This record gives sequence, C-alpha cells and structure tokens, in this order.
Amino acid sequence: MVPYTDELSWPDHIAPFDLFDASIQIDPYAHYRWLRENAPITRFSAAGTDYWIFTRYDDVVSILRQPKKFSSSHPANAVHAAMNIMDAPDHPRLRQIIAPSFTPKAVAALEEGIRIKINTDFACFLDEGGGDIATFAAKMAAEAICQIIGLPTNSALEFVGWADDASQILGRDTRGVPMTSEVAAKFESGRQKLLDAMLYHVNRARRSSEDTILRRLAVAWDEGAISELEVSNFGALIFSGGHSTTRILIGNCFAMLASDSAWLDRLAAEPESIPGFIEEMVRWKPSTSRLRRTTVDEVTVGGVTLPANAHVRIILASANRDEAKFPNGEVFDPSRDTSGHVSFGYGVHACVGAWLARLEARTLLDIAVQKLKDVRLDHTRQAIPIVGGTGDLVGLKSLFVSMTPKAGSQNLIAAPQGI
Ligand code: HEM
Repeated sequence: MVPYTDELSWPDHIAPFDLFDASIQIDPYAHYRWLRENAPITRFSAAGTDYWIFTRYDDVVSILRQPKKFSSSHPANAVHAAMNIMDAPDHPRLRQIIAPSFTPKAVAALEEGIRIKINTDFACFLDEGGGDIATFAAKMAAEAICQIIGLPTNSALEFVGWADDASQILGRDTRGVPMTSEVAAKFESGRQKLLDAMLYHVNRARRSSEDTILRRLAVAWDEGAISELEVSNFGALIFSGGHSTTRILIGNCFAMLASDSAWLDRLAAEPESIPGFIEEMVRWKPSTSRLRRTTVDEVTVGGVTLPANAHVRIILASANRDEAKFPNGEVFDPSRDTSGHVSFGYGVHACVGAWLARLEARTLLDIAVQKLKDVRLDHTRQAIPIVGGTGDLVGLKSLFVSMTPKAGSQNLIAAPQGI
C-alpha cells in the first residue's frame, strides 16, 4: 500500500509533507528531496480527499505524456472555463485560437517594443535606487500580455488585480478550501470585473482590422466555435498564467544576482550566457511547482496502480532536481544542460507563454547587467512570498533590492512617445 505522508519516518528537522501548508509552499525543496529519495510515490489526505504525489522525473514525465489517462479536466471548468483545466476536444479547440500569437516568431516580433519599454522603465527604477523588483516584473509581464492580447496596456495593473482575485476563487474551487462569504464576495467582484472587461474589449476588437487575440476570440465567438463564458475567461487564464510566473522568475534571478556580485560581473562580461542563466533558474526554481491531474481509469505508473478518479499531484520542482536526470540537481549551475526540464510542463498542455517569459527575462537581464554596478537585497524591507491560491506557485510576490548604476549608464535609449 502506498503510505500517506504522515505515516512516513521524517527526519526531526522536516515536518511531514502537507500539500496545502503555506510554510511548505514558501520553501518546499527539502521536502521534495526527502520524498524523492525515500518515498517517491506517496499519498496525502485532506478534507476527505486522497491525493497521490509523484516526485521522480520519470514518473512525472510519464504522467504528462499520457493526457488521455491523466485528465486535466476539473468540475471548476463550469465556472472558470479555462483551457488548462480541460481535455480534448475542448482544450485543442481553445488552444488553437491563441497559439499563433505565442510562437517564437510571433513573440520575437514584440521584442523591440518590449526592449524599449523595459529600458525606460528600468532606468526609472534605477534612478530611485531600486525597489520591489518582483512587482516591477509583474507590471512588465502584464503589459506584454496586454500587448499580445490586444488590451490597453495602461489598464495592465488593474487586470492583474482582478486576475489575482479570479485565481483565489479558482484556488478555492479546485482545492475545496473554504472562504468567508465576505472574502469570497471581494474576490468574486474582482473576477467579475475582469470577465466584463474582456467581453467589452472583445466586442470592440470585432470592429478592428488588427489581428489580435481579442479579434480572433470575437471571430470564433461569432462562428459559434467558442462560448461567451470561454471568451470572458480567456483574460483570467492568460493573466493568471503569465504575470505571477514571470514575477517569480525575475525575483529568483535578482535574488541570485544579489547573493554574490560575481554573478553580475560574469553576466556583464559574457552577456551571451544570460539565456543559460535564465533557463537554469527556470529549472532550479520553477514558478509553478506542481500540476494537478485526475486518472480516467485504473492506471499503473512507477510500479503503483492508481484507481480511476484518483487526484494526482506531479511535482515539477522535484522532478527538475532528480539526480537521475540532472546530476547535482540541487545545485544552481548555469553551465549545465537544462534540456528536458519540466518547468513549462510537457506535451499537449505545455506552456504557451514560455517564449514570451524567456524573452522578457532575457531582455530585462540584458539591460540590467549593462546598467548595474551592483545590486543588493534591501534588508530594511522583508521579501513577501506568494501563499495560497491553488498552492501551486512557489516564489516571491515582492523582493526589495537596492541598486547602484554604472557611471553614465542611464537612459541609453530614449523611448519614443506613446510606448
Ligand atoms: C516563468 C514563466 C512561466 C512558467 C514557469 C509557466 C509554467 C506553465 C506550466 C507548467 C504550464 C502547464 C500546465 C499544465 O500542464 O497543466 C503552463 C501552461 C500555460 N501557461 Fe505558462 N508559465 C509561464 C509563463 C506564462 C506566460 C507569460 C503566459 C501567457 C502570457 C502563460 C500562459 C499559459 C497558459 C495559457 C497555459 C495553459 C496551456 C494549456 O493548457 O494548453 N504562461 N505554464
């Protein structure tokens, strides 16, 4: 029988693994390592539900390779209508509407605009001696998402606030976590504003000739290929999927730069190593630490047979450090071969925004290493971790840094008016 996490003989310094414990969400790596080495398949029970937890690379990839046996679908779909919690045929029907906007080529076309904007914004950030770099990144990501969807970029932060509310509701609906009616009402109100805004802008895009995601949604809606609920929920999906994850990635990169000045010196001397630094950060500390699946029928994985309708949690953050796939996997080493990491998922649901996230991170680091003399953690202000929601995100909501510019490095490129 597969043991429950609280039946395992944990060492004294590690509390038994709890899937929904906020203190573990903040830093789960010691738990994941211990599980991988001692109980790679285990179970966790909460509120009458059993969860099957997989921590080894081979098992994680095996599950992601079998979407017909391990379903992404969830009853919360009826309200959230998001393609990441759908299976075929609905999932490919929705994904094909937005996928063309996220190809490496489509994303590369945004690069110049993104570079100019980041250059100006980062110069202002630097002028102030630094600040909350994670929130800076969230704004940057939200503006890029607005651009790619066709939403007004000056409303980016408002959309982010509403998408955060929507993801709290999604967290409640997918985890079954109770909320007071007052809190739920606040989050519902934010979620509703986002849905209304999406419908408003899709209707406006119908009259435009520009090829944006909004316009494609309008056309698909008119043709009956997509429902009103699916149209309105697209914004929530893309903002929730895109801005927190990128926020975390950038926070992790700057935390590393601040930990040892040698990183900044090395990246400034060898800017061609920046993509490798970012990809290793994506592997080492994935923003989305785990994914949810449900078995369709009885199925065997890693030598264990699961019943139909079993709730499965696959731990990407553990798979990425599995020694069998990544030697010295616990060590951050930008010179390693990161291929095969699962931080952007794998297979039919693999992240559509991966190229955009990489482009934003690379552009910001390119600019930062040119301009920065040094970067340090601002110890007068506490970093704030992300907790709650679906419990799947691991990383920082806020990271305060102090920065010193290189002499004469400010405002190398002036932003044209209107960007
Ligand atoms: C560091 C940044 C990011 C990370 C680590 C990340 C991670 C992931 C992962 C692991 C999945 C797979 C979900 C599953 O299989 O159930 C996923 C899917 C998705 N991501 Fe990302 N993501 C990032 C950035 C973005 C961005 C910038 C966007 C959009 C602008 C985005 C939009 C999406 C969407 C829409 C899906 C659902 C795809 C589907 O179900 O077919 N992500 N992401």
